[in-house]
Amino acid sequence: MTDRRRFLAASVAALASGAMSGNASAASAAGLGKKRPRIVSTWDFGVAANQAAWQILAKGGSVLDAVEAGARVPEADPKNHSVGRAGYPDRDGRLTLDASIMDGNGDCGAVAALEHIAHPISVARRVMEKTPHVLLVGDGALQFAVEQGFPKEELLAPESEQAWHEWLKKSEYKPSANSENKTYGTQAQPAGKPGGANNHDTLGLLAVDAQGRLAGACTTSGMAWKLHGRVGDSPIIGAGLYVDNEVGAATSTGVGEEVIRTAGSFLVVELMRQGHSPQEACRYAVQRIVRKRMKTAKDLQVGFLALSRSGEIGAYAIQKGFSYAVCDARKQDALYQSASSL
Ligand code: GLY
Repeated sequence: MTDRRRFLAASVAALASGAMSGNASAASAAGLGKKRPRIVSTWDFGVAANQAAWQILAKGGSVLDAVEAGARVPEADPKNHSVGRAGYPDRDGRLTLDASIMDGNGDCGAVAALEHIAHPISVARRVMEKTPHVLLVGDGALQFAVEQGFPKEELLAPESEQAWHEWLKKSEYKPSANSENKTYGTQAQPAGKPGGANNHDTLGLLAVDAQGRLAGACTTSGMAWKLHGRVGDSPIIGAGLYVDNEVGAATSTGVGEEVIRTAGSFLVVELMRQGHSPQEACRYAVQRIVRKRMKTAKDLQVGFLALSRSGEIGAYAIQKGFSYAVCDARKQDALYQSASSL
């Protein structure tokens, strides 16, 4: 079959299955109005992030500026224990942050295991714009950030330190990502519930401007109580984030190891390139993890969020409870629950 015929066949299949699946609900959830410009992001705290991004996008500003501004909101939130300065530390009590940023032309930058810098997303952007590299890690990332003028701070928040001391009492090493995000949002997570549900989310934010130009940002403090040096999917281009102006963008949340194993966000975008809707692409990517990791998938959460260049949205997760925020000219604070596999 030629590439063109294969594409058309996939498109017809996607349309047919979309009409009978979550595709229809995602389309109606996103509204039938103008779909560009539009911003989507993961979890309840995505609402505030979207609104900050919207301030820029609605005025015709740069889509890259918009996603960076959006990601900085949860990074600065003193109540957010899974992103930025108030994130939970690793098992040694060290707060290490991961972030990536990418535009639809393939330019991208990322930092991993970065300490003492409150806005890793802005350092990631500097990596993209000021270096010939894509990813800086650990001490090298810190050195670069300081050279770039970012203030070096002691970031571990009192609430996060207290939660770490609670965890130390048992020191059970059972890192697991959020699976039931019913109560968390931007609320403080109760201390002393380490290692189980509600210990971890990621901000993944995708935006498309009126002209169809895309960008994305992804930022997290990673799993609470992780081994020092552990890096998840968020700063790995193709895993936690992938953007291509020809097609669309995708981001992920949940157990980063599972997303890295499947090159998850790249997979979602490539499925969209083959003609699948964002919703179908997210569903297939989740189902691949479930199928290949049958034994563990029932106990873990991975969610994908996607945005096509035309502004169409997809969201799908292994478990129930994955919320995502949508912002466009019609409504700036919409919040939905994704479809789920289990
Ligand atoms: N999804 C973020 C992480 O696993 O660190």
